[in-house]
Amino acid sequence: MTKKTAAKRDPATLPKHVAVVMDGNGRWAQRRFLPRSSGHKFGVDALKKMVRHCAEIGVAHLTVFAFSSENWARPAEEVQTLMDLFVKALEKESPELARQGVRLRVVGDLSAFSAEMRALIDQAEALTRQNDVLVLNVALNYGGRWDMVQAAQAVLAAQEQPTAETLAQHLALAHSPDPDLLIRTGGEHRVSNFLLWQLAYTELYFTDVLWPDFSPEAFDVALADYARRQRRFGGVPESKSPAAA
Ligand code: FPP
Repeated sequence: MTKKTAAKRDPATLPKHVAVVMDGNGRWAQRRFLPRSSGHKFGVDALKKMVRHCAEIGVAHLTVFAFSSENWARPAEEVQTLMDLFVKALEKESPELARQGVRLRVVGDLSAFSAEMRALIDQAEALTRQNDVLVLNVALNYGGRWDMVQAAQAVLAAQEQPTAETLAQHLALAHSPDPDLLIRTGGEHRVSNFLLWQLAYTELYFTDVLWPDFSPEAFDVALADYARRQRRFGGVPESKSPAAA
């Protein structure tokens, strides 16, 4: 990586929080006459590069959709490959994440996983708890509708008033600001039950690049596109607001 790409970026135009739907692993593998599972393995490599790049340039939060509530419907062998990859990555990559100053948080309905897997998640989170360079949220068995329902249940259980603020405090990503930028690779133009609440004012970026090919350079293209956007959050551009006129 060159010094230029690794340098910290202008905080005014750099998203604080980037969310990613890592789509296209299966097609990437099929185009190479490989099993779909090998697409997921190369997908982990792409994710490792992306994490390092985000930590280097100053993105503070990265949230990736690793396994959706709906992904259980895939063939059992593919689900098993993905679970094996998660376990291997938790065991092997946590020390490297810790070294890079990355704090790992796994978000989703973890009750579906074995006690061993949950223990591994706990260990990896504990190992990286002190880190503050980058928060890496890995969404596992996550769905935006599940998240809103569990948050609503938590509001009721705490006997709080249901407001936007109390609900947001119980969402799985309450510790991260809402994403500034959502990237979806793989050519599809949809949100697929990811972060439904948090994406309200997020800028959306879609690319045909398949996830295993999504390099730090391709990410920089997305960041340059984001830097040109004018965010209004439902208001009007600053120079055109009545107060500024
Ligand atoms: C979508 O591609 C991708 C997934 C369902 C899995 C994404 C998971 C990884 C990249 C591994 C992440 C690993 C860790 C350790 C967090 P697809 O299979 O739907 O591709 P297709 O649309 O071409 O079929």
